[in-house]
Amino acid sequence: MSPREIVFASNNAHKLSEIRQLAGARFRILSLADIGCHDDIPETADTLAGNSLIKARWIKDKYGYDCFADDTGLIVESLGGAPGVKSARYAGEACDPQANMALLLRNMEEVADRRAAFETVITLIMGDEVHQFTGRVEGEIALRPDGNSGFGYDPVFIAAETGLTFASMTSEAKNAISHRGRATRLLFEYLDSLPD
Ligand code: IMP
Repeated sequence: MSPREIVFASNNAHKLSEIRQLAGARFRILSLADIGCHDDIPETADTLAGNSLIKARWIKDKYGYDCFADDTGLIVESLGGAPGVKSARYAGEACDPQANMALLLRNMEEVADRRAAFETVITLIMGDEVHQFTGRVEGEIALRPDGNSGFGYDPVFIAAETGLTFASMTSEAKNAISHRGRATRLLFEYLDSLPD
């Protein structure tokens, strides 16, 4: 039987290869470029669930494909949940990870409570059905960056389960406990449970 096609609403090469590894042979994962979508999809909701739904709904309604989309935020307790849904643009529209990290560390200079979490919400739309899967990892914000792997806020996020920043862990070790790893595994457990 040929694999079922499903669009992942992303062109991020790192995320696509991670997802394709997990998808195995049953699903052919198409990127936005694969379906000729170069839209700048507006992310106007004020929750991760809302934004991932907007992206998945956009693809389903405009292009007709079954699809899933993800949205991730870094949630810092003592900053009232910031940067949260604005994580990519925390220091401005340039979406510069170095500037985002620098602003975060500056805003936390005098802050003792450094608890934080990463959360990912994946929205899947198949036919008329909408499902959401959430993955979360607890940790804290480091006093200064540490480590060279990963991306985004990885050098300043210390995972509670390892005591290391994500940027100091191998990608396998990070994926085993990360927000996106957890949400993605829930997605594929669900897809694998569907009849052929
Ligand atoms: P997105 O929804 O996956 O685009 O993530 C929003 C922002 O959160 C990104 O711009 C990154 O800065 C940050 N982010 C998402 N996932 C991770 C991660 O695994 N490590 C570090 N930062 C992340």
